[in-house]
This record gives sequence, C-alpha cells and structure tokens, in this order.
Amino acid sequence: MLQPSARLKNLPPYFFSVIGDRIRQMQLEKIKVYRLDIGNPDMPPPSAVIESLATSASNPKNHGYNSYRGTPAFRRALAKHYQRRFGVTLDPNIEILPLLGSKEGIVNLSLAHLSKGDIALVPDIGYPAYMMGARLAEAEVHWVKLDPAHGYRPSLHNIPADILKRAKIMWINYPNNPTGAMINLTDYNEIASFCEKHDILLISDNPYMDVLYDGATAPSALQADADRSHVLEFFSFSKSFNMAGWRLGAALGSKEAIDNLLAIKSNIDSAHFTPIYDAGITALETPQSWLDERNGAYQRRRDRIMAVLPHIGLSADVPHGSLYVWAKVLDGDANGYVESALTKAHVSLAPGTAYGPGGDGFVRFSLGTPDDDLTESLNALQSWFKNR
Ligand SMILES: Cc1ncc(COP(=O)(O)O)c(C=O)c1O
Repeated sequence: MLQPSARLKNLPPYFFSVIGDRIRQMQLEKIKVYRLDIGNPDMPPPSAVIESLATSASNPKNHGYNSYRGTPAFRRALAKHYQRRFGVTLDPNIEILPLLGSKEGIVNLSLAHLSKGDIALVPDIGYPAYMMGARLAEAEVHWVKLDPAHGYRPSLHNIPADILKRAKIMWINYPNNPTGAMINLTDYNEIASFCEKHDILLISDNPYMDVLYDGATAPSALQADADRSHVLEFFSFSKSFNMAGWRLGAALGSKEAIDNLLAIKSNIDSAHFTPIYDAGITALETPQSWLDERNGAYQRRRDRIMAVLPHIGLSADVPHGSLYVWAKVLDGDANGYVESALTKAHVSLAPGTAYGPGGDGFVRFSLGTPDDDLTESLNALQSWFKNR
C-alpha cells in the first residue's frame, strides 16, 4: 500500500479543492450550484492583454525556456509601475522576480525561509496558503489575531517574546482577504519596523491593491520606512487584471529574500514563456478607466449582497476593497449555515474557519460571480432562509 510522506499526512485538505470535488459530484447529479465561495474573477482581462498574448505567441522565437528571472522587459515594466504608482524605486535586475501566481510564491518563500523549529507569523484570519506553506516547510504556525476593533490589524504586542525569537517570517494582506479591511502607510510603517527590529521578513501579499471601492486607495508595504532587506511584496495579475488562470505574479523588494526564493524556484519550476510576460507588460499599462469600470461592477454586486444579508440571518461591515463580503452568522453556527446553503439553496459559500480559528462564526461571499447567477443565488438563499 502506498504511503504518503509525513509532510503530507500533516497537511489539512485544501478547502477549495475539497468543495470543488463535492460540487462536481452535485453537478453530475444535474444540480446547478452557484459558486460564491471562491474568489475567481468572472470577467475577462482587458482586450489589449489578450491581443498582446496572441501577437507575441505568433512570433516563432517566443516559445522556448526563459531565464528563471523572466524577461528583463517584464521586470522593467513592474519597476516602472511601482515607481509611477507608489513612488517606490526598485532595481529590476535584483529586486523583482516573476512568480507563477502569488500562491506559488507563498509556499516557495516558506520553503526558502523556514526550517523545523522555526515559526511563521500567520494572520488569524487569512489566506490559507500562509499556514499551508509553513506546514509544508515543517515549521510551526503562530496565529496572530487580527483585531476587528482596530481595522483588522495584527495584534503585534500580544506575540510572546519566545515566539518572536523563533519567528522568521510574517504575512500580512491588505486589502484583506477575507475581511475587506484596508491599511494606511502609518500602519505599514509600524508593522515593518516591528519586523525589522525582530529580524523577521515581512511579506505583504497584495493581490487586491487594484480591487477598490468608494474611492478607496491602497498603499504598498514597500513605501514603509523600514530597511528594504526585511520587506517583500507579492504582486498578482490574477485579481488586478482578471488574469487568475494565467498564473502570473511577482515578488518585489528584499534582494536577500528574492535570492533565496529564486534558489528554491529554480529547482522546482521554470519561468513562463515570453507571450505571458509580454501580455503582463500590456496589463500594467491598463487605463484607470478599465479598472474603475470593473470595480464598479464588483461594487454593485457588493451592494446587492449587503442589501440581502439582513434577510438571510447575516450581517457585515461594508468592504472598501478586495473581492469579498465577510459576514457574521447571527445564530453563530457558520458551518451549519454553509452546509445548509449548499444542500438546500445550492449556493456554495466559504466557511470562516477555512481562514483560521478566528473565522469561526463567519462566512465569506465572493464578488466574482456573474450578475445573473448572483441574482439567482441571492433569491435561492432568501427562499431557503425564509422556509427553514
Ligand atoms: C490573499 C491572497 N493571496 C494570494 C492569492 C493567490 O493569488 P494568485 O492567483 O496570484 O496565486 C489569493 C487568491 O485568492 C489571495 O486571496
């Protein structure tokens, strides 16, 4: 009998993989299931991005392996983007590394910086890959509570001194998945200088920096005053430009962290082919009007969900960024709620506990659902809830 590794035995199943299998089974039984659980943009990327991919792919020279650092033109375009958008100067040769999406970067960065006995400071609540990356590296997770009373900031001063001594990396993410919380530069400064003081690498996982509502803005952690050696940011094309399936992102900042990440990645994966980088360069030139229009569509969906929550036993703060509504289950049993919504209303929601122990009592709605499906799913939830 085949035995998986101890590492794998220690790994909890990935929620979206398990729920995906379950939904496929329901679909085989001819049940239409509405997926409000996963943050998967339903709208296409800007058309110029697709044209750029096609043009570049028609060049016979563009199909071979690339350098592990991607193309220089792609790195230069990202450096220009950060300069223009945040006033941050980056050396494209040593401070930028393309990723196959930030999820890959999260796990490989964990492998590059964590050993047995080390600790990763992981937000409770947060994107599950932070915790999974630490487990895959056979390191320990210390959950850092996000404090709702303070805009879901990490409660840094509650981290015990012995934990801080063993902590090597700390993850943060604003605009936040799952809460939609935002951050300002003062808070980035505080968190970055805390990490620098304790010799911890701060990684700002920032895939929602372009998914903003109500005129909100999102700074970069690389704008913080702290020494650059201790700060890394992950940029992702998935949510910024509706390119989730393309698997394109980048790590920017600490040269040391990038060198370590590259040492792992060059043994595990290879770079994209040139047309993906060329399309990424075009994406970075997307006019603000395209982003505003796309965000307007998400914002209208957010408002529709917010209006229905009081009728389905939920309440939430209005999110000003990210792709989610983080809703409290008023009778407290979030897992029961998610199960009944799926089996009775055929609407799949993400249970709060998928994001850490602090998510108990909450469910997450994604805004990446087509308008018609959203209408039908909100109707289905209301009639299920009324007739419970
Ligand atoms: C906070 C956060 N980080 C990373 C990712 C993964 O992004 P990518 O598609 O770039 O791997 C997601 C996806 O939902 C996310 O919510």
